Order: sequence, then C-alpha cells, then structure tokens
Amino acid sequence: MNEVTNREVLMQSKRRRTFAIISHPDAGKTTLTEKLLLYAGAVSEAGAVKARGSRRRATSDWMAMEQERGISITSTALQFTYKDHVINLLDTPGHRDFSEDTYRVLSAADSAVMVLDTAKGIEAQTLKLFQVCRSRNMPIITFLNKFDRPGKEPIELLDEIEKEIGLIPAPLTWPVGIPGDFKGVVDRRDGNFIRYSRTARGATEAKEEILDPQRASIEEGKYFEQAMEECDLLNGTGANYDSDLFLSGIQTPVFVGSALTNFGVRMLLEAVIELSPSPSARPDYQEVPRPLASPFSGFVFKVQANMDPSHRDHIAFVRVCSGKFERGMNLVHQPSLKPFRTKYAASVFGSERDTIDEAYPGDVIGLVNASDLQIGDTLFEKDEVKYPPIASFAPELFAKVRAKDTGRYKQFKKVIVQLEREGTIQLLYDLKAEGDPIAAAVGEMQFEVLAHRMQAEFGAEIEMTRTPHKLARVTDIDTANLLAGVGGNKVMRRNDGTYLALFESPYWLQRIQGDHPDWKLDTIVAGTTQT
Ligand code: G4P
Repeated sequence: MNEVTNREVLMQSKRRRTFAIISHPDAGKTTLTEKLLLYAGAVSEAGAVKARGSRRRATSDWMAMEQERGISITSTALQFTYKDHVINLLDTPGHRDFSEDTYRVLSAADSAVMVLDTAKGIEAQTLKLFQVCRSRNMPIITFLNKFDRPGKEPIELLDEIEKEIGLIPAPLTWPVGIPGDFKGVVDRRDGNFIRYSRTARGATEAKEEILDPQRASIEEGKYFEQAMEECDLLNGTGANYDSDLFLSGIQTPVFVGSALTNFGVRMLLEAVIELSPSPSARPDYQEVPRPLASPFSGFVFKVQANMDPSHRDHIAFVRVCSGKFERGMNLVHQPSLKPFRTKYAASVFGSERDTIDEAYPGDVIGLVNASDLQIGDTLFEKDEVKYPPIASFAPELFAKVRAKDTGRYKQFKKVIVQLEREGTIQLLYDLKAEGDPIAAAVGEMQFEVLAHRMQAEFGAEIEMTRTPHKLARVTDIDTANLLAGVGGNKVMRRNDGTYLALFESPYWLQRIQGDHPDWKLDTIVAGTTQT
C-alpha cells in the first residue's frame, strides 16, 4: 500500500467501533439496537426495526424459526455512523443458553455492551456468556435497562456484576427518580443531572435538559438528593472509572436507562465512541500483531448457507483486520493458499444486502458464494498471515442423529456436514463403524436449530436420540485403545481429527484419571486444551 492509503487506513480504523450487544433474551437488546439507530439518525422513527406485538419482527429476524420465536438466531453486522464515527454493531444470536455461535461473533468484536434487565439482574443461562467475555478480557460496557419500571436496587445489581462475573462495576450515570417516575440520570463525571421527557411510544428521541446540581436540587428535590447521597457512597467505595482497567476487561463502566423510553440511550452511544477501543493490530496465530496499515487481511467468523431459501447461497462473514478492502480484489485463502476473488462482496443485515465496495479494519464483509471458506480461515492480499483458530467449547450435550428416510442417507450426510461447517453443531464419529454420527453441542438450542434447518431447508427429517454422556475430554489413539478396556466411556473422532472421550458422569472420569494418571484426558477450554 502506498503512504496515502496507509494514512487512510489508520484514519478510518480510528473512526471505527466494532461491538456486540450481549444479553439474556427479553432484556431489551432489540429495543436498544433500534434506539441506537434512532439516535444515530439511521432510522427516523423507532418501530422500523421491530414492529410491536404480533407483528414483532426485527430486520435481522429473517429465518422462519426466528420469526416464530421472536428471537434472533443468526448474526450479521449493522453499520451506521454517529458523529463522524463508523459503528459496526454485530448481531449476536439471542439464544437462551450459551452458544458457540455467540462466542464466534464476539471474536470479531472489539468490545461488548452487556444489557441487564434491572428487574432480573444476571440470569443463570447467560452467566456463562458474560463469564467467557470476562475471561477473555473483553472491554464491556454495562447498560442497566428498564429503569422505568420496578426492579432491583442499582447497588444490588452492581454487587451481582462483581460477585457473579468478576467484573468491577464503575457507574458513570446514576438513576434519579423511582420506578414509574424515572426522571433521568446524574452524570457522575460532572455531577450534572440529565432530565428526560418521554415521547409517544418512545418513537422519537426523548427531550433532554441538562441541569447543574444546584438547579437539579431545587427542581427535583428529594429524588435528586437521594441520588446524590448514593453517588457519595459510590465515591467512598472508589467505584470510579479507570480507562486502563476497562480496556483490559477488569472494570465495566455502568450506564442506567430505559431503552423503551429512550432515557440514557444517547449517553450509552457516546460512551461506545468515547470509551470503547477502535480496532487495533490483531495478533496472528504466533501472537505477532499485524499492523492495521499492512496489506488487507481478515478472518472468517461466521459461515451461513441458504440465508435466502430462494437462492441457495453460501455467505462467509469476514472481519477486516488490516488494510483496505476493495471489491474485486484478489486475495489468498489461508490455509489452502489458493487465490480467492471477491467479486461478490456484500454487507448483510437481515434479509437486506448491499454490495460493499470498500471496507476498513473493524468492518464486516459478507462474501457470497464462498463455499470453500470455513470458520477461522484467513484471507489476505499479500504478506501471508494466519489468524488463530476461533475457540470451540467443550460440548456437554450429545445426540445420535439419523435420517428418518434411509433412502436419502447420502443427502443427509452432505447436509449435516454442511451444518457442521457452519458451526451449528460438532459431529463425532465412531472409531470403527461408519455409522450415524453423534451431534455434540454446548447448548440445547443448537439441537433445535439443527433439526429445524435439516427439515426446513433440505427436507431431510431427522431423528435425534440423546446419549447419556455429559462431558468430553480430548484424548489420543493410544489412550483410546486403553479406554476401550475400562468401560464407562466412549471414544469418538471429530471431523477435525481430534479424539474425544465421552463420559456419562464426572465420577467415571475421576475414577479413570485416579487409576491411570498417565492417560491423556485433557480438558477442552475454549479451543485450547489443558491438562
Ligand atoms: P431482546 O431483544 O433482548 O429479546 O428484548 P426486546 O428488545 O425484544 O425487549 C423485550 C421486551 O422488553 C419488549 O416487550 C420490550 O418492549 C421491553 N423493553 C425493552 N426495553 C424496555 C425498557 O427500557 N422498559 C420497559 N418497561 N420495557 C422494555 P414485549 O412486551 O415483549 O414486546 P413489545 O410488544 O413491547 O414489542
């Protein structure tokens, strides 16, 4: 790249914020997404993304199943601008349980916004996701949503964040008012009070007034006094924002508000711009960071076939890591080192697709008809680079999968392998027999998606029989032969060649480990193996 392009790439990278919203279903992710679009001027009235009640349907809810359930299973990226910044909001699947799919999307994000429903706090099923983000040191901004209605005390919520996720909360805003009479927030950074007024259905921006503490005290009286007392308590506990702690994933700045009434939404959007990191040099598989201004490179974090049932296509979503992407450019696919043409590049959100002509670090491009690309693959223009594989998690649920119509076995096999490549499930095969595979998953929803997609897209009905296994360990062929003699386990081979030993209970595993400490039985921790 020439110097001008170098400068352009650095300047464009600096403008970008690439983040994902993580939350439990119903905490308000869709509502908040829509309100962020409203405040960024990308929609003129809220209601465009999600219609109310029975018409409830988000732009990203394009799969029939998603519409039936009103949840978003697939993930894409939404790009909009705000105050000369380019925001890439990655849509994470709204699974009720932890899913690898969500994790893969997060691998393409530079930060996350965690939305909590103040009435519910941290809910058990999503705890794992939050903990995983925490353990990966991802910068997380917290938004305590639904302050317009009765909920837990904010202090109690901060306590939950600290105890359950291990993140130190640092509130930057604090609520003024009571449920049912939520007035606005105190900005702890300058002590000012931001008073909001609701608009009809929250369809347009809430009116905002900024009052200095003196005026706020006169006009809001006891509500403001109480908020100030609580802020004094927070000051006393040292719950103050520290940018380094946030960027290293130790502390989370906390904002309060109500996505429904638009209270606090602008402050959150500004926080994403002011506090969250812009893309930085991404480490390759040997942990050598690739400078942003190096020639184009990116990695595939999601693969999706048949997004549009009328066009059987195959889209690979690529997060740009370095350089400038220009449609039509010739790239190299790593690991095959084969050339890859990018004639069909698109930005995809929901069912809508726009051709994308250029992109910069932090952006997401959808490469259409890219059936050779797999999750974790790297694409580069020149100066070969290989990004590390995306972590896969230890499966905890297992089911034997069989085609109901044995006459269509060949098609069944083809389709299920395709879904495995998309990361819907992991497939395990018997070491000796060629028999039916076992589908392995981290969360229950993965099985439902598998059954639904086999049926809806390929007309292949399947039968799933759960096996009693509950945990898996990485092993090798020598240990596999030894394990065959002791029972209480089953060794299977994953498509990537890894041997997995499945156990029905931790008891069996512990016994075998106790009797044979030299056997290879490694814990699978987010893609790496630990002994
Ligand atoms: P999700 O994407 O995280 O699943 O949540 P979503 O935005 O769909 O919100 C779930 C429900 O919570 C919706 O109500 C939504 O209107 C409501 N909600 C979101 N933010 C707020 C808030 O700040 N305050 C209050 N009081 N409610 C909020 P619903 O009845 O399920 O759907 P709808 O009929 O309102 O669309």
